[in-house]
Amino acid sequence: MILVVGNTKGGVGKTTLAVNLAIARALDGRDVLLVDGDEQATAIGFTELRTEQLGRPGYTAVSLHGAAIRTQTRQLAPKYADVVIDVGGRDTGSLRAALTVADTVLIPVQPRSFDLWAIDNIAALVREAREINDRLRAVVVLNAADAQGADNDAAAEALGEADGLEYLPTPIGRRKAFPNAAAGGRSVLELTPRDPKAAQELAAMVKAVFV
Ligand SMILES: Nc1ncnc2c1ncn2[C@@H]1O[C@H](COP(=O)(O)OP(=O)(O)O)[C@@H](O)[C@H]1O
Ligand SMILES: [Mg+2]
Repeated sequence: MILVVGNTKGGVGKTTLAVNLAIARALDGRDVLLVDGDEQATAIGFTELRTEQLGRPGYTAVSLHGAAIRTQTRQLAPKYADVVIDVGGRDTGSLRAALTVADTVLIPVQPRSFDLWAIDNIAALVREAREINDRLRAVVVLNAADAQGADNDAAAEALGEADGLEYLPTPIGRRKAFPNAAAGGRSVLELTPRDPKAAQELAAMVKAVFV
């Protein structure tokens, strides 16, 4: 499956979720390609750190930008069970290209008003991409959600109304485990000491995304 983790908003956890999802699938024994479509190359940097720390990353990572995201991903996808594409927060050229080849776009959103307002932006890009790629599934998920539910419920309600987007009821909390794991080149599934909640939330998201 080709998954793009995308949002026109930066700092919402795209790279964090992309690498955690890629590793989760690789730990399940699948051949995974991670495409870094962000000029800032955070996913590649993470992969280099991971290779230093663990000896081998457990997946293949490449850096691609703009239209090459479409052409190269098409070329490479048959060789992998899963392709996970991480795109930057502003680079809509790469995001648009990714949306035309993807089976699913996962849109992480933080339950705060500025992020919720930005949803119309990405919803419009999804509609546009569907003119070329009519099987594109678009799912929105809360990331870095606060522990108390009121904000999250309001956010879920607002997102549930977004046109053409499916709300995934598998939120990820704001948990130190994510930055802590990333600092060691790891996913939250590989972190010691383990954060069982972070691992459970990620596992639930994996199940809901890769159907
Ligand atoms: N669920 C989470 N809990 C805590 N911190 C998070 C979570 N998701 C992301 N972060 C942190 O938020 C910051 C931005 O995340 P990042 O994945 O780089 O976002 P993006 O790729 O959308 O710009 C990073 O410091 C990351 O560690
Ligand atoms: Mg990023």
